[in-house]
Amino acid sequence: MGTPSVSAPTFEHHREALGIGEAEPRISFEVSADQGWTQRAYELEIRTADETWSTGRVESGDSVLLPWPTSALGSRESATVRARVWGADGTPSAWSPPADVEVGLLDPEDWLALAISAVGDVAREATAPTLLRREFQIAGPVSRARLYVTAHGVHEVEINGARVGDDTLSPGWTSYSSRLRYQTYDVTALLQEGANAIGSWLADGWYCGRLGFHGGESNRYGERTALLAQLEVVLADGTRQVIATDTSWRSGTGPITASSLYDGEVYDARGEVTGWSRPAFDESEWAGVETVERDPATLVAPDGPPVRCTEERRPLSAWSTPAGTVLVDFGQNLVGRLRITVEGDSGETITLRHAEVLEHGELATRPLRGAAATDTYILAGDGVETWEPRFTFHGFRYAEISGWPGTDPVREVLAGVVARVYHTDLRRLGEFECSDPLVNRLHENVVWSMRGNFLDIPTDCPQRDERLGWTGDLQVFAPTAAFLYDCTGMLSSWLKDLAAEQLPDGNVPWYVPYIPTIPMWTPPEPSAVWGDAAVLTPWDLYVATGDQQVLARQYDSAKAWVELAASMTADDGAWDHGGYQLGDWLDPNAPPEDPIAALTDPYLVATAYLAHSARRLSEIAAVLGREEDQRRYVEVADRVRGGFRTRYLTDDGLMASDTQTAYALAIAFELLDEQGTATAGARLAELVRKAGNKIATGFAGTPLVTEALSRTGHIQAAYDLLLERECPSWLYAVDHGATTIWERWDSMLPDGTVNPGAMTSFNHYALGAVASWLHRRVAGISPAEPGYRVIDFCPNPHGPITSARASHHTPYGTASIRWEVIHDGAALHVDVVVPAGASGRIVLPGSELEVAAGRSQVTVDL
Ligand code: BGC
Repeated sequence: MGTPSVSAPTFEHHREALGIGEAEPRISFEVSADQGWTQRAYELEIRTADETWSTGRVESGDSVLLPWPTSALGSRESATVRARVWGADGTPSAWSPPADVEVGLLDPEDWLALAISAVGDVAREATAPTLLRREFQIAGPVSRARLYVTAHGVHEVEINGARVGDDTLSPGWTSYSSRLRYQTYDVTALLQEGANAIGSWLADGWYCGRLGFHGGESNRYGERTALLAQLEVVLADGTRQVIATDTSWRSGTGPITASSLYDGEVYDARGEVTGWSRPAFDESEWAGVETVERDPATLVAPDGPPVRCTEERRPLSAWSTPAGTVLVDFGQNLVGRLRITVEGDSGETITLRHAEVLEHGELATRPLRGAAATDTYILAGDGVETWEPRFTFHGFRYAEISGWPGTDPVREVLAGVVARVYHTDLRRLGEFECSDPLVNRLHENVVWSMRGNFLDIPTDCPQRDERLGWTGDLQVFAPTAAFLYDCTGMLSSWLKDLAAEQLPDGNVPWYVPYIPTIPMWTPPEPSAVWGDAAVLTPWDLYVATGDQQVLARQYDSAKAWVELAASMTADDGAWDHGGYQLGDWLDPNAPPEDPIAALTDPYLVATAYLAHSARRLSEIAAVLGREEDQRRYVEVADRVRGGFRTRYLTDDGLMASDTQTAYALAIAFELLDEQGTATAGARLAELVRKAGNKIATGFAGTPLVTEALSRTGHIQAAYDLLLERECPSWLYAVDHGATTIWERWDSMLPDGTVNPGAMTSFNHYALGAVASWLHRRVAGISPAEPGYRVIDFCPNPHGPITSARASHHTPYGTASIRWEVIHDGAALHVDVVVPAGASGRIVLPGSELEVAAGRSQVTVDL
């Protein structure tokens, strides 16, 4: 037997553990070992500047989120950690590669920096970013330097002319009054002995920029952008030097003359300020700065990775229009911005407009509503110029480019334009593929919609004047998201904001961070499905990772939501009044202008959701050892389930709303008894058949309908729904060229025109929540225990799908399944891999097989 090998440890849910906020970060490692190997013990070695410390041999099979074993780290302190393991034979493995972890600034007192704003930066109408700078001397060779930085607005820092980091739109969007994230950068290599300079671009972003629909509003959080930066330098001789934002900094303007998340950016290259972030720059024309308020106690380290460019895509095709512009197709609806490389005369102006789809051969910009999504570049005219906007993003597949210089703009645009894809730089965990190429494209579309909408916060859509963290959308999508990408850090941060924004009565705002918008959404009113994110999303992250801390942290928030909803129920337990129930939002039967007009009673949805959330909360209480609460929420769940049955179940076992959504909820949330569930399953399958296999569900029913059919033995009906191609169905959009999930089943109408509804996005992940069913039921991989310590492999060969495979990088390593129907449909071959530290169960028609870590294959007759 070969010796096992151990991966470099990781810390909490960080992808990069520099400047973290945990003084005692939990440690995880993965083991690769031969079939049948079992971990008996581990050892962690922690090396800090002062000592090397070891746990010694710890008798344990654990490897995930192990408690920090030694004294807590202090602000700025770093450690190097490695691990090794023992199996049964008593010989230790080799040590893992070392991994570094470094803590950020934990104590408000650590912050010497003051938030500074350019003089005159008050209630600006224009949205031109400012530049801030300062020069300083370093007295000797630098051994280590860190930059801690954040902003009211969004920043991009330069030191001695070089850009710091590769993240964009930092510090992102949080509930700024309670929590403002800062970033930590290792800038050692950028500094030099002698004269140095630091400068920052500073733009409106979410802090001051226009946000919201029907015109929206600017200056939501304050009227001035501000920068808070602290550069800490340690010289070779041990001396510490701190350069922090204060009133000695200077402010100026640069080439960006307007910048907005929704509207885009205007860059006049003639106004570039050469050398502004280098020493010896003449700043005599620059103005001063003023300090603004920012409580350092609200500054927090990030929980997840930042937003970055993760891919570049060249145009698929380009053509000229009768109006003399060039239209470019990138072949994929994506989120990001264009980078252009161009040569022309000074003052020539290139305009870049973006849209997700074309209509009548032109960009369809109506779905963008009030977002101009237009970038403008004015050439300096001094040779080849390369430019990309800095502080904006667009959702687009097509761009219209006007003003491109030269005689053959189509050819030059094809050569000189690239689309750069931006989103939170999450690690990909999950893959899926099956024998049906249309289903594969559907899955690919789900992945792209997640990428486009996981941009610092989980947004509903990335293109129009909205881009808000709608809680319901994320709630239904979270299981899919957690399978596809490691989003626990990012969503933990968002959930902290959710708790911070929760109203005193427990109500969860429609979207987080919350900003007042039109009267319909202000103040927020309780709505099931949306508010249930407080309970169900922490649970989904726990199921994906086994991390109980996310449950503990969100416990009060989850409880407050359930208590509020329970207080709104009638005597019989039904939630039958109050709040503003969005219900089965975007039921395909609702008219385009009235997406709330679903066929399913919104209070049926609310009651079902409350029964489900109360049950989950009792389970959360059990995990956290809160026995009294556990009992209480079992009672609440039982009472509400009773109300559900009394109100919404008729004597003949049908639901009062005889709809796909009503049965899907009743079955998936286990609200009926055994007989009732069977009757509901049969009726659901019948409704699907009667509808000609067309979907009839909105946001509430869609994530559950195929799962409800599978659970009640109507797997054929589930596949019929999945594989239907007429509108409304998942594959209708695929057939109509969709490369992301649409907001509406018919965002594009069969005649190729855009749905007339004012709310028509082509990139909304909610209806893509079916991907979780593809993973769990079609390919058949799911956690049987939180964190995949035990993995269920449950292949579901059926109908025209003859093979499928899926893999997920679990906290223990990669688990995978691959199945294929063989011998002309007579047999099924299943091939699974279980990572070391976990075990699995292969569940087949009529049999169940326990499998240990390693690869297992089985062939059974069908
Ligand atoms: C958003 C949603 C959201 C909904 C709530 C829409 O404008 O795009 O996806 O959940 O409003 O009603």
